[in-house]
Amino acid sequence: MDIDIITLFPGMFAGPFDESIIARARQRGLVVIRLVNLREFGLGRHKVVDDTPFGGGPGMVMRPEPLAAAIESVRRPDSRVILMTPQGQLFRQPVARRLAQLPHLVLVCGRYEGVDERVLTLVDEELSIGDYVLTGGELPAMVVVDAVVRLLPGALGAEESAEQESHGEEGLLDWPHYTRPREFRGLTVPEILLSGDHARIAAWRRAQALERTRTRRPDLLERRPQQPAGPERAAPPASDGQPGSSSPDSDGG
Ligand code: ADE
Repeated sequence: MDIDIITLFPGMFAGPFDESIIARARQRGLVVIRLVNLREFGLGRHKVVDDTPFGGGPGMVMRPEPLAAAIESVRRPDSRVILMTPQGQLFRQPVARRLAQLPHLVLVCGRYEGVDERVLTLVDEELSIGDYVLTGGELPAMVVVDAVVRLLPGALGAEESAEQESHGEEGLLDWPHYTRPREFRGLTVPEILLSGDHARIAAWRRAQALERTRTRRPDLLERRPQQPAGPERAAPPASDGQPGSSSPDSDGG
């Protein structure tokens, strides 16, 4: 997968992309991440990228020409161009799964009060990472890259499998995990996990995952696709509601 990130602050990305699983995925050639400095597409001697809003009001708006030039410098026929903005659709795990199937992502990081509305004619979708406002799209772009790249085949080792985890294909939170010591400050590990009975352990974990989801995030249960039978049946992956987002083993929600 190729990822181009269009930003005024390429220096912000150094740490997160140079450590741990993302760095390893890059070294393995699973993903090529390029940072495109929007300033280089700025206008005139001063490389201007923003201006005051028509109609008045505080703040600056990103001009369309530098953004258009930057997008067009990297866009290919198979690109998906995504604007990071608090106005976008919520970025959830099914969206990460959909994006992980694509050959080329172009992530556009907005700054200032926003981008000129006409830039939307150049983007395929808008994504928000949550209902709060950050200073720009850089941190959201890092979140998207992290969530997508760890899903690429070969990015995680067997020990870090993405199959069983919160917001996995079943749409449940994760079950509780324990490691050594068996007793910590008077708190013991649930006996069943020490039993060696793998079938009972699997059933216990599943019940825990369901119960946690019910108490902490009942909204996730409502979002799950219709369950064909009892709670022991595996659910098909949830569609994220985008056209063309069905994975081969999905019924499209
Ligand atoms: N830019 C500023 N806040 C944002 C958010 N919550 N999601 C995506 N982009 C943003």
